[in-house]
Amino acid sequence: MPNILLALNWKMNKTPSEARAWAEELSTALPQTSAQLAVLAPAIDLVDVASALKGTPVQCGAQDISAHESGAYTGEISAAMLSDIGAKYAIVGHSERREYHAETSQKVAQKAAAALAGGIVPIVCVGEGLDIREKGEHVAYTVAQLQDSLEQLSLSSAAQLVVAYEPIWAIGTGKTATAQDAEDMAAALRQELRSLYPAHADQIQILYGGSVKPANIAEICAQPNVNGALVGGASLEVASVVDMAAALR
Ligand code: PGA
Repeated sequence: MPNILLALNWKMNKTPSEARAWAEELSTALPQTSAQLAVLAPAIDLVDVASALKGTPVQCGAQDISAHESGAYTGEISAAMLSDIGAKYAIVGHSERREYHAETSQKVAQKAAAALAGGIVPIVCVGEGLDIREKGEHVAYTVAQLQDSLEQLSLSSAAQLVVAYEPIWAIGTGKTATAQDAEDMAAALRQELRSLYPAHADQIQILYGGSVKPANIAEICAQPNVNGALVGGASLEVASVVDMAAALR
């Protein structure tokens, strides 16, 4: 079974000074935990966060990544740039980027492939909106979204992949999917991964995201196919991160 990953998605929060203070506070407050922690910070915070967390077991990463290797792509950040500062991860295809930045699954697939080619582990996000859940089509929709979002990935690079199931109706709303909902979808995604990457599927971490907090993280991450959480709101305060890490002990 893969290890548990506690991935912290700050979204567009924290200036570099706030980010530094958070990382310094966390490095002195780290609890004993079997989970791997990773902070997914705004790009402008990453150099400082990486240096403040150096020597701790906490990894860092970005919230997006370019689909291109280098060159004339104004505003973008490449896998090589992230790798150079010691970042390990990049979120790819978060529903907020799909919605507000018109990212298609085809674009997400290119970004995931570019990340892996440049030594960055993509955390590929999928998940349905409320309308699809209410029609009962969420499993078919999310599995198809995963297939499309992984289209460019080679068989061998899949060993490095992380997948996050984030139902859009549960993000930032306080409405968490039940642990059973999370498990049902994670099991369906695992099944799809088995058919795409038979050699690696059982080692790929599948995270759940959507209103995860200290009170519900243990039950969600105890599900057999759920290997961690992608946490937004509850990642901003160090105290709540410490509580979540401790709950995963
Ligand atoms: P939330 O966000 O924990 O605030 O619901 C999760 C996410 O969007 O990654």
